[in-house]
Amino acid sequence: MSTHRITLRRPDDWHLHLRDGAMLKGVIGETSAHFARAIIMPNLVPPVVKTADAVAYRDRITAAIPQGHDFTPLMTLYLTEGTNPDDIEEGYKAGVITALKLYPAGATTNSDSGVRNFDNAMPALERMAELGIPLCVHGEVTDHDVDIFDREAVFIDRVLEPLRKRLPELRVVMEHITTEDGVEYVKANDKNLGATITTHHLIINRNAILVGGIHPHMYCLPVAKREKHRLALRAAATSGDARFFLGTDSAPHTDERKESPCGCAGIFTANNTVQLLAHVFEQENALDELEAFASVNGPQFYGLPLNGDQITLEKRAEPAKFAAKIETGEGPVTVFNPGFDIFWHYAD
Ligand code: DOR
Ligand code: ZN
Repeated sequence: MSTHRITLRRPDDWHLHLRDGAMLKGVIGETSAHFARAIIMPNLVPPVVKTADAVAYRDRITAAIPQGHDFTPLMTLYLTEGTNPDDIEEGYKAGVITALKLYPAGATTNSDSGVRNFDNAMPALERMAELGIPLCVHGEVTDHDVDIFDREAVFIDRVLEPLRKRLPELRVVMEHITTEDGVEYVKANDKNLGATITTHHLIINRNAILVGGIHPHMYCLPVAKREKHRLALRAAATSGDARFFLGTDSAPHTDERKESPCGCAGIFTANNTVQLLAHVFEQENALDELEAFASVNGPQFYGLPLNGDQITLEKRAEPAKFAAKIETGEGPVTVFNPGFDIFWHYAD
């Protein structure tokens, strides 16, 4: 196989933040230009908690898709202690809801409505297990005594493993895993457990946030970890193992909100992810596994059809050009800068 050209099924993004209003209008085209579908995160203010909220949000998203783009938003509900199992069932059977999202209360941006006591969410979780609806999990504990770099590993022990013991039939996606512990936990389990990996966590480790000054555009949650974890993520993503798939977690915040004394968590990668991934997979000698990671493993986990259309990327001598910022009605959003040139382009 030539390493200078690669054709794959059009990718999907299994974890994406689109926001609402002017921000939604400003960023959606960056995703719909590259991806056929995306799992849309529900952490709006207020969050998307009921099927009716998801219908309305889906309509706003659909209305904002640029003409000529073919893109399907896959909607999620934000799991709360008050989520009504009948509402989930109705939304799922009507084809509105693809998954639910669990944020431990306080874990990240707009997560105040998250779950504190799992006993209260059990009726909803039991119904999901019965119907086969996946639970997307933000896997970090929020206990103040736990170091931020340990929060994913501790979540596995204290929350995820007990939950999966209690409800083994529940299908779970560990979102944006950042550690070797996350990789190993997925590998040690069965087909009911999958994980998404972001593009940026394949590229940066925690030095990118802190060396030479504080770099707010490298700050996201879960926060990037030390190098050995990045290497474990790269090995998992490029392995072809069907339980690992792409979820960019592309999360737009305006520069004003990022470059502040209390900057928001989130890295925006919608517009350069596909080409960055080609670069990473080539570095790992695994270009032939890119399609599994970006276009096959996700739909298979979710029980959805694979995309029929294809994209072709080719490597050229000159670097690809990406917008450094996306201009939105709310203000500019800085795009993730990997710190090196990318030579992968879309073939004409
Ligand atoms: O970095 C992040 N940004 N992590 C999250 O979990 C939420 C997201 C956001 O909504 O900005
Ligand atoms: Zn996210």
